[in-house]
Order: sequence, then structure tokens, then C-alpha cells
Amino acid sequence: IRHFILTNTAFTRRNQSFGDKPTMTRTVFVNGAYVPENEAKISIFDRGFLMADGVYEVTSVLQGKLIDFEGHAVRLERSLNELDMGMPCTIDELLEIHRELVRVNEIDEGLVYLQITRGSDGDRDFAFPDPETTKPTLVLFTQSKPGMANSAASQKGAKIISIEDIRWGRRDIKTVQLLYPSMGKMMAKKVGCDDAWMVEEGFVTEGTSNNAYIVKGNKIITRGLSNDILHGITRAAVLRMAKEAQMEVEERSFTIEEAKEADEAFTTSASAFVMPVVEINGATMGDGTPGPIAKRLREIYLDESLKKAI
Ligand code: PDD
Repeated sequence: IRHFILTNTAFTRRNQSFGDKPTMTRTVFVNGAYVPENEAKISIFDRGFLMADGVYEVTSVLQGKLIDFEGHAVRLERSLNELDMGMPCTIDELLEIHRELVRVNEIDEGLVYLQITRGSDGDRDFAFPDPETTKPTLVLFTQSKPGMANSAASQKGAKIISIEDIRWGRRDIKTVQLLYPSMGKMMAKKVGCDDAWMVEEGFVTEGTSNNAYIVKGNKIITRGLSNDILHGITRAAVLRMAKEAQMEVEERSFTIEEAKEADEAFTTSASAFVMPVVEINGATMGDGTPGPIAKRLREIYLDESLKKAI
């Protein structure tokens, strides 16, 4: 413990002596209060911590504005409903908190992370606590990511490996049970790749934190919606925009073999928008650079979403 305290103190001091400004401390939101991140407190009995009994949303910020806030709010309500969890406040209040955090933390490009858990009744028990006496925990924080819209990663494209999908059967609920997706990301990194696509009964479900697509000619192919995948907010927008741009969209499952032979592949998520895929299990896609359809969809998505950002 002594060693831990000493190293941490040294780390803080070192950080503070960097540059002219002291280290920026984020303002975060915890259960009704805006506080500096190092003063935010959650009970050790919180069910999010003990049981991954919580849901989350990630909303992107471009030019200081929220992208598709409504889509995320609607999915959040659905996730909570599916788990018999209550909303701790109204959607309007949530919007206000998002905006206030973006403002005080001066986020130009980045993300707002929101998490709601079933709270803490001061002990550990598998049975849910009484919602009348145990209120949900609400936490929000921002992540500043300058250059996110024009990231080097998106210009280079992602290298993907495939892994077995061994997650639970309700992936349509955006829960904080992210251990297996984290492990998948690490399996990819270990072999010099960027991400993993998960495969169940021979067919790709989705990426560790994104939806998966292949392109054949003018046709965009992505798995249909069910309990097997998260109903991506970026997915809905991109498919709508693709149809508006006269591209063909086919919602059906595909295999890794089919993906390797496709013209292009890409993923979508609030944190990476449209991300071209340039390699799948060691096989190069096209000439190994981002494909034209993925690039075009990324541009359309960024342009159109910005117009509607709030
Ligand atoms: N992840 N599938 C999974 C498993 C995801 O975790 C995500 C999002 C998506 C894409 O959904 P959306 O387009 O609504 O972001 C699909 C977020 C970004 C995350 O965990 O950070």
C-alpha cells in the first residue's frame, strides 16, 4: 500500500509539472451533482460494480454538438425497460447534463459516456433491490478526442481478426458487461490487428464495439436486427443515408469467408463513425487501403449528422 501511495503521488506531481497549465481535471456528473473527477464517489456495493448490472450509452460530439442524441436516448430507455430498471431523470434533463458537461469540459470533438446502474442497497445480493428504496446510479463523463472526425486510424483502415462470439444472448441491451469484447480487442492487438469480429454458428454477429458490414458491388450487406447484436444508432443512420444515396442495402448474415472475398468491409459506431476494414484474418481487402464506398459513407455520415447535431 505504501508503495502504491508513493508512486501515485509521484505520478500526480510529475503530471502537474508538465507544460504551463496544471493537469486538466474533468468535471463529471454523479447522481445529481457536477464534481471534479477525483471527487466523484460510487458505493462499493453498487450493482454496476458488483454485477455489471447497468446499461450505458456513448454519444459522439463534433464541433461541440451532440450527434444523434435522440437515437441514443431512445435506445437507453429500451435497455432500461428490458432490465426492469427505472430512468433516474427525464430525457430533457439528460440532454441538459450532456450539454453542460460538453460546455464545462470544452469538448470540441469527443464523446459523452453515460451509465445507469441498478444502484446500491448497501450489501451484495443476487435478488434485485426494491426500486422504491434503491435508486439507480447515474454517471456521465466526457472524453476529449481532438481529430476524431479525421482520424489517422480511419485513413489507414482497420485490420480485423475473427473470434468466437461467446457473449450472452441479449446483445440488443447495451449493458456494461464488456469483459469479452475487451478480451477480443486484446486478442486482436496481440497479433498486430486493431479489432475482432465475433462469429456465431458460422456467421458474423458484430465487432467488439461496432456493427460489421461488407460491400459487394453497389450493395451493402449487414446482419439483420435481433437479440444477437446491438441495434447500432450509427448503423440506423448509415443504412438510411446509403439508401438515400441510391446504394443497395441487404440485411442478412454473412460468413468470414464471404467477407474475405467481398470488395470492401467496414464497421460503424458512435466512437469511430464509419471505419474502413482493410484486412480480415490476414487476407487483404482490395488494395489494402480504405474502399471507396466506406470512404463515401463516412463523409456522408459526418456531413449529414453534423447538420442535425444539437
Ligand atoms: N459501442 N455493437 C456493439 C457491441 C457496440 O458496443 C457498439 C457501440 C455498436 C455500435 O453502436 P452505436 O452505433 O450506437 O455506437 C455495435 C460503443 C461506441 C462503445 O462501447 O464505446
